[in-house]
Amino acid sequence: MNEIENIRVNASESYDVSIFRDGLDSCGEMVRKVLGKCRLAILTDDIVDALYGARVMDSMAAAGLDCIRHVIPHGESSKTIGNVMEFVNLMADNHFTRSDAVVALGGGVPGDMAGFAAAVFLRGIRYIQIPTTLLAAVDSSVGGKTAVDIAAGKNLVGAFHQPSLVICDTATLETLPPSVMRDGFAEVVKYGVILDEKLFEEVSEPPVKDIVHVIAGCVSIKRDVVAEDEFDNGRRQLLNFGHTVGHAIELLSDFRISHGEAVAKGMVRAAMMGPVMGLEDCTGAIESVLKNYGFDTDCPYGAEELYYAALSDKKRKGDSITVVLPRGIGNCDLFRLTGDEFRLLLKKTENQI
Ligand code: NAD
Ligand code: GLY
Repeated sequence: MNEIENIRVNASESYDVSIFRDGLDSCGEMVRKVLGKCRLAILTDDIVDALYGARVMDSMAAAGLDCIRHVIPHGESSKTIGNVMEFVNLMADNHFTRSDAVVALGGGVPGDMAGFAAAVFLRGIRYIQIPTTLLAAVDSSVGGKTAVDIAAGKNLVGAFHQPSLVICDTATLETLPPSVMRDGFAEVVKYGVILDEKLFEEVSEPPVKDIVHVIAGCVSIKRDVVAEDEFDNGRRQLLNFGHTVGHAIELLSDFRISHGEAVAKGMVRAAMMGPVMGLEDCTGAIESVLKNYGFDTDCPYGAEELYYAALSDKKRKGDSITVVLPRGIGNCDLFRLTGDEFRLLLKKTENQI
């Protein structure tokens, strides 16, 4: 293991996020130090299992931690309550108790599902995140949002439940398909735009030189935001920059447009809304960095379609919708708009694309 960055998150649970390159084989030791002797139920997907499942199981066994493993098919369509039920039934059949724990191994899909299972099994047991996508490393493995999808929408059933430890070995990112890696960079750029101009500059021209440092930068931002607003009532909503329009685009494309691509389009659209609201115009800067990563930032949908798709989003409260708009790079704010105001903003930015 080379350089290691340890970030302490202080929320309703305090825990470390350990980021390093090459050290997955020590994950058992790291887990044992935090959880003590217990049994573990690992949730992962088929692709990640084939790549890393045996190494993680062996490391846990070497640390004296007995494991069971549940493998789901990869992809968002597996993020269902039915698959979570299979996993909790497996733990029940194996007589798991409150002193045992769950391990999420993979991207945001196994991460969100394993976290949710840990939140509800026996009214809450501990869990560990081992993220293997860039998106999971910088976002979904930290902060305790867990969920599954239902027919009415993504992530509509879930719970806040913080992990006990996050173990991020950046060597696992080296097997990611380029498109999945790129999706993660949309979230990295997001962190720069919302709160860190220096990070934005650092990642503006790929390839990124020090991925451990970049992930640590993103996680540090998320740590600060979560410490201030764990339950998403205010400041945490800054992390939704680009996501209101992004989720609408994902939905309209029937999820053919990936989350990262949709968020990239959503961030550019949000940037365009800034000047309409009298704020600095950051569109060019954001668009040019996203284009450096190969994102197509054009939006294939009209203002009305986006408006109706956005209405189904969790970020809506009553008749109002909160959008995140940049005042400058590294400086975003929340704006609470009525549905009509949001609709007008979409309309006024429609022809700029
Ligand atoms: P994912 O878990 O589906 O991973 C994407 C693909 O990469 C999958 O096919 C997976 O098998 C593959 N993969 C994972 N690691 C790999 C590796 N190291 N090498 C090769 N292939 C690998 O999806 P994701 O993009 O990581 O996450 C998206 C999910 O995260 C969504 O469900 C989203 O709602 C959720 N999310 C949650 C939060 C949160 O705060 N909880 C935040 C953002 C996103
Ligand atoms: N990914 C958004 C959040 O954690 O709040």
